Amino acid sequence: MAESVLRKDFLWGGAVAANQCEGAWNVDGKGISVSDICTGGKYGQSKMITPVLDENNFYPSREGVQHYYRFKEDIRLFAEMGFKVFRFSINWTRIFPNGDETEPNEAGLKHYDEVIDECLKYGIEPLITICHYEIPFGLTKKCNSWVSRDMIQYFLNYCRAIFTRYKGKVKYWLTFNEINSSVAPMGALLNQGILIDLENPTVFMEQPDIPQQRYQGLHHMFVASALAVKMAKEIDPNYKVGNMMIYSASYPLTCNPDDILANQDYNRIYNYFCTDVQAKGKYPYYMKKFFADNDITIAKEPGDDEILKEGTVDFVTFSYYMSCCQTADPNAKSGEGNILGGVANPYLEASDWGWQIDPKGLRYALKDLYDRYELPLMVVENGLGAKDEIEEDGSINDDYRIDYLRKHIIEMKEAVKDGVDLMGYTPWGCIDLVSASTGEYAKRYGFIYVRRYDDGTGDFARLKKKSFDWYKEVIASNGENL
Ligand code: BG6
Repeated sequence: MAESVLRKDFLWGGAVAANQCEGAWNVDGKGISVSDICTGGKYGQSKMITPVLDENNFYPSREGVQHYYRFKEDIRLFAEMGFKVFRFSINWTRIFPNGDETEPNEAGLKHYDEVIDECLKYGIEPLITICHYEIPFGLTKKCNSWVSRDMIQYFLNYCRAIFTRYKGKVKYWLTFNEINSSVAPMGALLNQGILIDLENPTVFMEQPDIPQQRYQGLHHMFVASALAVKMAKEIDPNYKVGNMMIYSASYPLTCNPDDILANQDYNRIYNYFCTDVQAKGKYPYYMKKFFADNDITIAKEPGDDEILKEGTVDFVTFSYYMSCCQTADPNAKSGEGNILGGVANPYLEASDWGWQIDPKGLRYALKDLYDRYELPLMVVENGLGAKDEIEEDGSINDDYRIDYLRKHIIEMKEAVKDGVDLMGYTPWGCIDLVSASTGEYAKRYGFIYVRRYDDGTGDFARLKKKSFDWYKEVIASNGENL
């Protein structure tokens, strides 16, 4: 076999989030999370946020793909593909149902004991996202979640419970999924638990927005993340804690200097701000003017700056799906995006959900982030959301997905040849699950098909897609046979 470009201990695997795959939304003492109050939706028809649950509505987070009950079968299939790592989240509301309890829920802790043990049985390294759009809705009601500084303590209680319980079994942790989703209004509820109207339904894609709350909330999250890094090391010096951001690769639409500057400004706020704080340990200088221009005042407490400085992350992780362009032209039409938008790039094609496919953007992302932070990187989400069909003979020929992943892995290897230190790759939704932005089953990412549909039919059976065997070979050859 050819000498591989990627390191020998490269962490190949896949990623999921509890709220999108577990289901079992109210069993074994679990509380309601912010995802549980979001209804189903579809492309072009936003899901709704319903603070008062409506029994006649469809809540995909309630059932996910039943991973809570079928995790052994799922992990066995991951092991069959040769996974070295499995990225999943612990659902905060299984451990602290309302968020403000003093003692953790033993049934919740026990469930993740079993999930972790099942991974270890196959030599799969767990990579745990501590908070992936699963803030206890009880905390939204109690204090509007991260708007309040009290959240730092609630979050740290949760971290202490899981850092202590899984010591010696887990090595890699990520504090907040896609923390920079909160620089856009759409991140307010999912990422921060912030909800302005607690009485009436809100359209998910059109959440009323108070930027002051989002940025103050982010400050509290930065402090909490830094204190969690510190706590992790005190509990187990072998723990490695990473951030997790959306990398929204962005190019100037033209070489007009105004477009170049617009793109630079976009990158600072959307791509760099949060990771600058989490990896460099301080607010970047450019935020001062941004806050002044936008009438935002960050309330800090004495000692916060030191906390940020002392709690920087060990490695940088990100999701990468697509790229977009920026222009200074106020009339340019904004395209679709994974939370963070932009203008369509005329050189690229888009997925059925309007996300522009750009493998080279991943190479750019890796080089850009490594230039800036000089920390080990990991691509913890990437993939193609697509409609899959089961053929008459039972096969699912997702060549389009193989093509997408192959091209991205090729670019990832190019970045490594350039000298980027890349730890691993966990494509998103390695088993089909519910989409986060549109709340539907139809948008599938997996190597494993789940027979469940948006009309409520389907028996949750697992079927291997063509990409299953393809990815198995990719892992076996350490990325050489693509
Ligand atoms: C990321 C999230 O934004 O993208 C995941 O971390 C999400 O939770 C993924 O599922 C893909 O987005 P979507 O909307 O296609 O599910």
